[in-house]
Amino acid sequence: MPLPRVIATRRLPEPVEQELARDFDAALNTDDHQFSEAELQDALRDADGLLCTVTDRLTAVVLAREPRRCRILANFGVGYNHIDMTEAGRRGLVVSNTPGVLTEATADLAMTLMLMAARRAGEGEREVRAGRWTSWGPTHLMGADVSGQTLGIIGLGRIGRAVARRAHAGFGMKVLSYTPHPIPAAEAAQLGVAQLSSIQGVLAESDFVSLHCPASPATYHLIHAERLRLMKPSAFLINTARGDIVDDRDLVRALDEKWIAGAGLDVYEHEPRVPAELLGRENVVLLPHLGSATWSTRVAMGLKAVGNLRAFFREGKAPDQVG
Ligand code: 8YV
Repeated sequence: MPLPRVIATRRLPEPVEQELARDFDAALNTDDHQFSEAELQDALRDADGLLCTVTDRLTAVVLAREPRRCRILANFGVGYNHIDMTEAGRRGLVVSNTPGVLTEATADLAMTLMLMAARRAGEGEREVRAGRWTSWGPTHLMGADVSGQTLGIIGLGRIGRAVARRAHAGFGMKVLSYTPHPIPAAEAAQLGVAQLSSIQGVLAESDFVSLHCPASPATYHLIHAERLRLMKPSAFLINTARGDIVDDRDLVRALDEKWIAGAGLDVYEHEPRVPAELLGRENVVLLPHLGSATWSTRVAMGLKAVGNLRAFFREGKAPDQVG
């Protein structure tokens, strides 16, 4: 029997491409270009499965084009808000993701952003590289404390809990959280997390607010002007989840009008476009969607995506099917 045809829409870590080429009739994206809408539609017409990423806009229009040979979208990543799940469901397209394997790396990056924003690490780096650092000084680039402060976590899934663990056990932080899906009290106590019944309470009491909820219609612009105004003027907003959870225009206003002290962002609503109003700001740390970007994590994500494809074509079911 011929091997299923799988198209990878981006360059993948070498061990992942090797496994894909071994088990499938695989088409690799050797120059790592981002697929256009037309290329995505051609791929859906020509392949049995797509190994796709967050850079593929798998909209209803793209998914609706007939004829289509593709039966599974094996997403490389846990978030899948770039895929129109309603259209995928209507057309019987299976979607899978890669949960679990990127939890620790993403939690590490949330801590990185928290520390960088509070300790003005980006500013310091820019100063050194530009040759502007002239002397140590008692008042030079003084920042905010992280240890012992209060962290508010919005969304208490795997990544939210991993951040709570680091913050509480490692940095002695008081951790508050708001989640529509509370975790058992014993687990919360073990993590040192107090689960509040309202997002407002978490925003008002925290020195750092870190977002860990999935992007969905329910979380679209969850953080807007009214909620940013509830935060302390000394507080920082950290986002390693998805850009569209925050209303960028309101965030710029919050920074301009000093409703909050700063932000650490890894994700953006229209990435790779970053709002111009954020680019020039010293009190915002901006990273290029690096949450899961460690060697071992990216390999594990890729192997998980390949595993989903393999199981789907062999047994008719992807272990990490979503939707
Ligand atoms: C991925 C992510 O690298 O898994 C996710 O949801 O945001 C990132 O860690 C990205 O989605 C790749 O598709």
